[in-house]
Amino acid sequence: MGADIAAQVAAVRAEMLTRPGGLVRHVERVLREALDLAATWDLDPGRTELATWGHDLFRAFAPEEQLRLARETGVPVYPEDERSPVLLHGPIAAAVLHERFAVTDEEALAAVRDHTLGDRRMPLLAKVILIADKVEEHKRRRAYAMRAVRRLAHRDLDLALLCWADWKWVDERTHGWESHPLHWAARTEWVREHHAELAMPGRISDAEFDASAVGVRFQSFQSGF
Ligand SMILES: [Fe+2]
Ligand SMILES: [Fe+2]
Repeated sequence: MGADIAAQVAAVRAEMLTRPGGLVRHVERVLREALDLAATWDLDPGRTELATWGHDLFRAFAPEEQLRLARETGVPVYPEDERSPVLLHGPIAAAVLHERFAVTDEEALAAVRDHTLGDRRMPLLAKVILIADKVEEHKRRRAYAMRAVRRLAHRDLDLALLCWADWKWVDERTHGWESHPLHWAARTEWVREHHAELAMPGRISDAEFDASAVGVRFQSFQSGF
């Protein structure tokens, strides 16, 4: 771990340790998952630790305090955030990490900012932190589907994100909760990417296709089929 990152991790961890014990234990469980995933996906453990210690710094703050901090740090506030200010704790933490803790690692900041709702385009580190946050031991005991998401995340991180988003969709509809537009935009993009033929060979023109098909028929004819 570089000296800069080590000093930032120590400072952010010290701040997190001033928060309620239950929340600190959650972050410790997330850290175990995040480091496991970081090893699978060849991510720097120091940057992973920095984003993990920082992600819930403002999770336990009162709703009115979260709204105040969001306005103070210039975080955009959607009507959905007004109704549920806890959704702002990631973006607030990212802003404070940048301003007060001098964190300049854009991917670590994105990981902190987007760990609740996700984003259309996420660096690997952000995907790891989001999934680790959702599959830590207590959460996968509460929601069985998170066990499958956890296993999947070590094989296909994007598919794990999409499965989590599907589970979240069902959960929100079941409880009559609204979906945040930022999450919905991210989810829509993940679905589109999943169905895009990214792994398929490039498309060819109809004429090229017909020519190749004639070749195949001719060879088949010659070989007696
Ligand atoms: Fe959080
Ligand atoms: Fe968390």
